[in-house]
Amino acid sequence: MSMMSIRNVVVVVTAMFVLTCTVAAQEKTQAPPAKVIKHVPVKAVSPASGKEMYMSYCAVCHGTDGKGGGPAASALKTAPTNLTLLSKTNEGKYPALKVAASIRGEDALPAHGSKEMPVWGKLFWSMSSGHHSEVQQRVVNLNQYIESIQQK
Ligand code: HEC
Repeated sequence: MSMMSIRNVVVVVTAMFVLTCTVAAQEKTQAPPAKVIKHVPVKAVSPASGKEMYMSYCAVCHGTDGKGGGPAASALKTAPTNLTLLSKTNEGKYPALKVAASIRGEDALPAHGSKEMPVWGKLFWSMSSGHHSEVQQRVVNLNQYIESIQQK
């Protein structure tokens, strides 16, 4: 082997080493987040039971008890609302209209603009293939279920 080609091999090896170091450094700085939200297609649960819909669609963030501690909660930037305190924080009166608007995603208040909560209005709409009465039934039954879990 001539002197020339030995030097070339060394250069290549060094270049590869530098590259490996860069990749390793990047991996260190770009540590994956502790939790990643996996989006799964919503399955159509009967609109007849507010509780069943709540457990399928809402509990992952708001918790099975409605207090905001669902398994996906820690991965969100905004903490899911404790839904059992809605009456208490509204002078003892359950805010049915506001809840319905939040569920449908029509709540345009800037304070609610985090948009981490899915827009259920649209999802229910496609789930019910555009049947307005069924979308309405879903929102009403969910609303009643949430009202039933209010803390006194
Ligand atoms: C991916 C997580 C996630 C899921 C699933 C989810 N929510 Fe939420 N929800 C949030 C977060 C976060 C907030 C509070 C921040 C905000 O305003 O966006 C919130 C806020 C709300 C509010 C507003 C309360 C208030 O202050 O007026 C209601 C009502 C609500 N959710 C009901 C539901 C219902 C009902 C379902 C199921 C159909 C549901 N949520 C599913 C994350 C979620």
